Amino acid sequence: MKKVLFIITLILTIISASVGQPPLGPPSANQPPDIIISVSTLNTDLVYKVNGRDRRLYQSYLGSKLDNISELKQARDAEHLAYATSGTDNLFEPAIRMTHNDGNPSLELKYVSHNIEKPDTNITITSILLKDPEYPVEVTLYIKSYAAEDVIEQWVEIVQKEAKPVTIYNYASSMLHFDANKYWLTQFHGYWAEEMKMQENELTSGIKILDSKLGTRAHMYQTPVFFLSLNEKSDENNGELIAGTLGWSGNFQFVFEVDEKGSLRVISGINPFASEYSIQPGKPFKTPSFIFTYSNHGKGLASRNLHHWATNYGILDGTKPRLTLLNNWETTYFNFNEPKLVGLLDDTKKMGLDLFLLDDGWFANKYPRNDDHAGLGDWQENKAKLPDGLGYLVKEADSIGVKFGIWIEPEMVNPKSELYENHPEWILKLPNRPENYYRNQLVLDLTNPKVQEFVYNVVDGMMTKYPGIGFIKWDCNRMMTNAYSVYLKDEQSHLYIDYVNSLYSVLARLRQKYPHLPVMLCSGGGGRVDYGALRYFTEFWASDDTDPLERVYIQWGYSYFFPSFAVCNHITSWGKQSLKFRTDVAMMGKMGYDIQINGFTEKELKFSQDAIANYKRLSDVIWHGDLYRLISPYEEDRAVLMYVNSSKDKAVLFAYTLNSRFGETFNRVRLQGLDPVKTYNIREINVQPDGQRFRPSESGKSYSGDYLMKIGLNVGSGAALSSTVFEITE
Ligand code: GLA
Repeated sequence: MKKVLFIITLILTIISASVGQPPLGPPSANQPPDIIISVSTLNTDLVYKVNGRDRRLYQSYLGSKLDNISELKQARDAEHLAYATSGTDNLFEPAIRMTHNDGNPSLELKYVSHNIEKPDTNITITSILLKDPEYPVEVTLYIKSYAAEDVIEQWVEIVQKEAKPVTIYNYASSMLHFDANKYWLTQFHGYWAEEMKMQENELTSGIKILDSKLGTRAHMYQTPVFFLSLNEKSDENNGELIAGTLGWSGNFQFVFEVDEKGSLRVISGINPFASEYSIQPGKPFKTPSFIFTYSNHGKGLASRNLHHWATNYGILDGTKPRLTLLNNWETTYFNFNEPKLVGLLDDTKKMGLDLFLLDDGWFANKYPRNDDHAGLGDWQENKAKLPDGLGYLVKEADSIGVKFGIWIEPEMVNPKSELYENHPEWILKLPNRPENYYRNQLVLDLTNPKVQEFVYNVVDGMMTKYPGIGFIKWDCNRMMTNAYSVYLKDEQSHLYIDYVNSLYSVLARLRQKYPHLPVMLCSGGGGRVDYGALRYFTEFWASDDTDPLERVYIQWGYSYFFPSFAVCNHITSWGKQSLKFRTDVAMMGKMGYDIQINGFTEKELKFSQDAIANYKRLSDVIWHGDLYRLISPYEEDRAVLMYVNSSKDKAVLFAYTLNSRFGETFNRVRLQGLDPVKTYNIREINVQPDGQRFRPSESGKSYSGDYLMKIGLNVGSGAALSSTVFEITE
């Protein structure tokens, strides 16, 4: 009997364990077999393996779909721990690090079990339970796959059942391993009004970190998104890569470590900086989600995968239409009154827009909000500017058939405010240090439940009083500095994490009561663009920089990871380009206006009204069609992209000439995503107010999809800062 058992075990081991050198000594007679756990989407497999010898969990494979996953059983183990711990034998960056009650600074994780759940035909949630053999600490890895979108979401839950709290120092959402010859990292950096600047570099041995330490928002200097290309640089249509992003509106960290064998580990999660967290016995600690897609057809496909995912799952009401709007910020700033706003309501109507958005400056009385030095926190209508209150404006808007929206910044306070006077203990500020201002304001301590209640009531109070309000812009104009929470007492290192989780719980509560109210997410421009927050928001303000030349680059950057319907683009008076150029650029996403309409000439007004009508006709293609980036502004003096709807009978192409050098030629552009056997009519829209076209236009011609994709179209002109929009219809 014993002999039979031994032979069975031996056979199992030969089949399941690595051929070549076994990593951990000879198999024992009682060794359980290896276990393969695979997570799949339509085109991707992520495969884990429990090694029978040590019961540890390894990542065996990540890439395009395998014909036969069980062949991996024979593969030589690369020994990539799926969630590497710290303190025992791991000599590289860990995914998790902790100290136990008794001071033992190590964690060992062994496989216990796994579970596969299928909430619907598209989604599979795989959870893998790991446990320390000596300490009552459990770590569950969650891997949620979205089959049709080819997207995978990963997060982790940590539970400890020791006698006292346990401190965790690192607690990644995801650890992924790659074995390629070379690695190319594309990152997006920036600053206020300079969001999403793209850089690409080869990773070398050692560690490269992308992170932020801003507290209230994920980014300003580094955006929580990246492309990682394997072996070679990838372009729009070629190359193997992953596109990754963290759904977290606070400090994030991506670690890329190339080891001595040229293997790469990518660790993504909350930034462990100043954030050691003590977890109470029995209380699970859940990390945010890392979201990624794998593509072996370049960045274009990766973006489309993420767009599809964001539309169906990542952004609130992603499949629903958005509202076009007129915003008053850049035309009035803080200087407005009731008659002026009523005039703007009329302009909204005259233009054919859906909504008027009243920005900053409408509130506070003791310290009126007449500039950015005072009033933040006092969310009552300013009686001098709005003697009849918001209700009057909501009613006026309603009577002419436009919606009314309003700006708030409920997490913040000016020192010159009643809120500051009444609740100094609600404010994040260090004892024994001067207050540190940014835009003359401070951050409220959202970790305090009383503050959460206050913030909830800013919205709920207003919506209850004026249920006709149809839109909100939620701003967050500063990061944390000199931050200290009276509420958190001796757990100050919880602040960065608890703040964001508290924000999410307020937003979740608001969403229970107002599930579909459109809310724009803004953070001094694009500081809070992440899929953690976007679950609660319908769109985001991409940048305070609305110069359309800059916007071509900024929007290009966002387009890699975020769908166009969520990117708010406003036509303003920034930049010296024509109104047409400004309009065309704004049309590539969620279009709005923030410009003096009563300063328009008759021609400009007519042009804009026609453009809005065009936009309304085409917005579904722009918002929900597939994006093809055809010519990158990073590579040429022009930018060309197009959107194609799913039935491939309608497309919209945007072309911009950004600069024009002597002798520079602009070749035809080959289109993508069309049906080769369909015949398409080309029609130029948004034609200049004076009707001038720079070159014999392709407008009015018909071509097959085959011709358009193999030979291409003449798009745009040789004139700097000119633009062309083609409506392409079967
Ligand atoms: C931030 C926003 C702007 C505007 C101002 C108002 O800077 O990004 O769009 O709302 O606040 O103060």
